[in-house]
Amino acid sequence: RGKRAFIAGVADDNGYGWAIAKALAAAGAEILVGTWVPALNIFETSLRRGKFDESRKLPNGSLMEISKIYPLDAVFDSPEDVPEDIKTNKRYAGSSNWTVKETAEVVKNDFGTIDILVHSLANGPEVSRPLLETSRKGYLAAISASSYSFVSLLQHFLPIMNPGGATLSLTYIASERTIPGYGGGMSSAKAALESDTRVLAFEAGRKASIRVNTISAGPLGSRAAKAIGFIDKMIDYSYANAPVQKELSADEVGNAAAFLVSPLASAVTGTVVYVDNGLHTMGIAI
Ligand code: NAI
Repeated sequence: RGKRAFIAGVADDNGYGWAIAKALAAAGAEILVGTWVPALNIFETSLRRGKFDESRKLPNGSLMEISKIYPLDAVFDSPEDVPEDIKTNKRYAGSSNWTVKETAEVVKNDFGTIDILVHSLANGPEVSRPLLETSRKGYLAAISASSYSFVSLLQHFLPIMNPGGATLSLTYIASERTIPGYGGGMSSAKAALESDTRVLAFEAGRKASIRVNTISAGPLGSRAAKAIGFIDKMIDYSYANAPVQKELSADEVGNAAAFLVSPLASAVTGTVVYVDNGLHTMGIAI
C-alpha cells in the first residue's frame, strides 16, 4: 500500500510545503494538505483554474493530485479556543472543522489513518521588529503559530498515524545563530521547535513508533519569507558564502524531506538536518 501524507502549510506553489508535497507525490504517496483558512479560497480557486498546472508536473510527466484540501488554523486546538471575532470573520465563516482537533477527526473519518505528517507553517506578527522591541503578545503569537502548532498537530494526529510513520517540520538557523531581521520571537520559536523535535522524537517514538525530525532550510523566496522583507539579501548572502555556490531550490528541500519521512531514514529521529547548501558550517563570510 502507498503511504498517505498530511502536509500542513500549503497555500500556493512557491513554498516548501508545496515542494514537499510534490516530492512525496513523486515517490508514490497520497497527498492531503491543510491550508490556512484565510488563504483557502484563493488556493482552491487557483488550483481549479489550472494556475498551478505547470508546477504540478512530476518527473514522470503526470500532475500531482491532492486528494483533499482541509481548512486549518493551527493556532486553535478545538472550537472552545476560537474567539468570537474569528468565528464571525467572513474569511472563516465559510469553512468548518478547521481547528487542529477537528481536522484530525475529519481526516480520520475520510481516510482512517496517515503515515506522514508534515508541518510547513510559521507566523510571527511582529517578525520585522527586533526581539528587544517585541511585545509579549507578538512573542507568544509567534510561538503559538510556529512551535506549539507542531506539538498540537502531533498530539492530535498521532492516534491516527500508522506505526513506522514519520513527521517533519521546517526550521531556520536563526534558532542558533543571530540573524538580524528575523525578529518578533521567530528566532525563539524556531529554537523551541528544534528542542521539541528531540523531546517529541522520544515521546512519539516510545508511544507509537513514529519518528520526528526537522529540516533547517536555507533561504527561499516564499510568500512568508517575502513578508519578512530581507529574503533577497539572504539568498544573495547564501549564494556568495555557502560551500556549494548555487541557488537553493524548494525541490531540494522537498527531496530531503521525502528521504527523511521514508523507510530509507528508518533510524533517523530527533535530528535537525541542514538543507542549505552547507551555509550553516561557515564561521565567517568571505
Ligand atoms: P509559505 O508561505 O509557503 O508557508 C507558510 C504557510 O503557513 C502558509 O501557507 C500560511 O498560509 C501558513 N500558515 C500561517 N499561519 C498559519 C496557521 N495559523 N495555521 C495554518 N497555516 C498557517 O512559506 P515557507 O517559507 O515555505 O514556510 C514553510 C516553513 O519553512 C516555515 O516553517 C518556515 O519558517 C520554514 N522556513 C522557511 C525558510 C525560507 O527562507 N522561506 C527558511 C527556513 C525555514
